[in-house]
Amino acid sequence: MMHKYLIGNWKMNKTLQEAMDCIQYLLPQLEAIKDAIHSINLNLVIAPSFVHLWPIKELIQHHTLIQLAAQNCHHEIQGAFTGEVSAAMLASVDVKYVIIGHSERRIYQKETNDLLASKVKKVLAAGMSPILCCGENIEQRNTGEHKTAIYHQLKGGLVDLTLQEVQKLLVAYEPVWAIGTGQVASLEVITEMHDFIREILLEQYGMIGEKIPILYGGSCNAKNIAAILNGSNVNGGLIGGASLQVNHFMEMINNIT
Ligand code: PGA
Repeated sequence: MMHKYLIGNWKMNKTLQEAMDCIQYLLPQLEAIKDAIHSINLNLVIAPSFVHLWPIKELIQHHTLIQLAAQNCHHEIQGAFTGEVSAAMLASVDVKYVIIGHSERRIYQKETNDLLASKVKKVLAAGMSPILCCGENIEQRNTGEHKTAIYHQLKGGLVDLTLQEVQKLLVAYEPVWAIGTGQVASLEVITEMHDFIREILLEQYGMIGEKIPILYGGSCNAKNIAAILNGSNVNGGLIGGASLQVNHFMEMINNIT
């Protein structure tokens, strides 16, 4: 059975104490349903701020139910890049996944596909899994350019990967108009776009493309998550706002296990 993923992207939220309180509250509740979590091969991942990765790693180190993701990393291996964090630094604090090319970074930090392609390579070289995000904006959808936009983001962000590297890759489809708006994509749109992404991955990587998890993100919540995860070629959810409150995140987990 293919793994399913629920990844909480905390973005720039929570102080250290708040982040620790959330994890401490979550852990016993996850332990209590661990058989259900294992029975559906659910991978639970939290992406806190960089500065909270290490203290959270210490909290979760004796638990196998939850893993760490980072929200970004730098595209160079190391060097004179003041204020940046490298892939190797993240791997050294037990980060397993790195979100690459979230639309907020594409928009506010002007991250380009070329830059993201080199980030993907650095994450892989450091032994972690990149989660490459793609998603059309509202203009692209309204003008029927949504598939072209996704095609270019995927082709541009996934460059020169070996088939071995591809096995560690995850892709997230996050339409920009659905992020943080409460306007979740319809099941028809999610199916159409995930099937399209699967076609691209199959065309590029052959049968290995069948195994690359494709996550949906954009206004997921406890009410809609089960139906979304039931969709064809939907292998998980990337959750922003609804992951911030532990009770709500726990409700989501309960609704899919
Ligand atoms: P949202 O964010 O769940 O708050 O819409 C999703 C994301 O940005 O990954």
